[in-house]
Amino acid sequence: LPVASFDGVVFGATGDLTMRKLLPALFHRFRDRQFPDSSRIIAVARTELDTEGYRKRAEAALRQHVDAASLDEDMLTAFLDLLRYHLVDALGEQGWPELVASLNERPDQVRAYYLATSPDLYGTICQRLAQHGGITPQSRVVLEKPIGRDLASAQAINNAVGAVLPEKQIFRIDHYLGKETVQNLMALRFANPIFERLWHADTIDHVQITVAETVGVEGRGGYYNGSGALRDMVQNHMLQLLCLLAMESPISLDTDAVRDEKLKVLRALQRVDPHEVNGCTVRGQYSAGIADGRPVPGYLADLGAESSNTETFVALKMQVNSWRWAGVPFYLRTGKRLPRKVSEIVVQFRTPPFSIYPRDQHELQPNRLLIRLQPAEGMRLEMMTKEPGPGGLHLRPTGLDISFEKAFGQRYPDAYERLLMDVVRGNTTLFMRRDEVEAAWSWVEPILQGWNDRRDTPRPYLAGSWGPTAAIAMIERDGRTWYESFD
Ligand code: BG6
Repeated sequence: LPVASFDGVVFGATGDLTMRKLLPALFHRFRDRQFPDSSRIIAVARTELDTEGYRKRAEAALRQHVDAASLDEDMLTAFLDLLRYHLVDALGEQGWPELVASLNERPDQVRAYYLATSPDLYGTICQRLAQHGGITPQSRVVLEKPIGRDLASAQAINNAVGAVLPEKQIFRIDHYLGKETVQNLMALRFANPIFERLWHADTIDHVQITVAETVGVEGRGGYYNGSGALRDMVQNHMLQLLCLLAMESPISLDTDAVRDEKLKVLRALQRVDPHEVNGCTVRGQYSAGIADGRPVPGYLADLGAESSNTETFVALKMQVNSWRWAGVPFYLRTGKRLPRKVSEIVVQFRTPPFSIYPRDQHELQPNRLLIRLQPAEGMRLEMMTKEPGPGGLHLRPTGLDISFEKAFGQRYPDAYERLLMDVVRGNTTLFMRRDEVEAAWSWVEPILQGWNDRRDTPRPYLAGSWGPTAAIAMIERDGRTWYESFD
């Protein structure tokens, strides 16, 4: 659905996120005529540039990051015309009065401030905007992750931003929530009673969530080395996936109804005792190996550092303390430089209590529901079937498959496209509420503390492998194995 004309203001407009994700997402929405050309996109940064110079950079980024088939030249020119550049010094005085004066030419317009900067600046930027009269009832602020690096810093950011804007005008982005397949998790559960009736400890043996990437830290070492996989991927994206899988049915699709249920899951997570962190977590760091078919350096070489205690892989065993999930482990793993890029959820059901098929002749595999979030989005229900033929009785696992691409035959919009339009619409459902972010940090903190207390160092793993063997041992101790991704 088209949205009304708006003013989008991007702080951090020369940065990687803006160039790689935000501008392409806005371009796609514009190209599909979802917003009118009376909208303005105001790029803000500290670099000495003018509007023409910025448009040149934006054009280069769009040519690189938008697929050629979508890059209609007339639309590209029209889109670049929407861009304006403003030099603003977030910590000083330069540029603020001019920026706000130009915005206040249209005081009733929806105004979206996107902070694609370091989180240290979130509070300051919001305060500056308020001091200069830039916050109107129609203003929203979008905060990129990470919101802090622990509970205290997240609270400090939330307090500073919350002093200027009410919660309904604050959009904390977790781009996983904008992925089509992640939204589909709710449809799977709450529009299909056959699954929901099986969705509990009586029938489910365990759940696995894997978010694997082949990339290393690329040019983001500065940020990543201060963060690590637990903060970068688990505290936000993976806990959000777990919430959508584990939550009770919300009473409606209303923003707070959905977020209330996710919050309950976060609060029901079994807290990790820092002294026992080794039993339920494994940290890894990649060393040189083969990724995407070519030799790649290890993490330290990528970083240009002699040593680092940052994990590029983490595996966890978690419990949700509720009637529904009592005794069902959730195993999570994520890492850089793994063998393939895949995000996948495996819901493994219990094996039959008794088998009429002699065990020495038939190995019954448990039923599994596999949910592929990316790439090749789809779902597969694995079940045992009899092999055809008169030669005897042979059972074999086969799958009921849905490929979303085949079913819908259309391009999957990038997560940011959906989320940016939700900001303009004022719909916060797919964004994280303050209490969710803080509950997630509260759960993560004892793990960080446990690692820190033990002076634990990450275990090395070869680039292109599935992480340290300790991660395999962790799940095998429970008599289970990581599921090999399906194709
Ligand atoms: C980001 C992380 O939030 O998500 C990155 O900071 C990671 O380290 C990225 O690479 C993964 O996103 P996607 O959409 O490629 O799965």
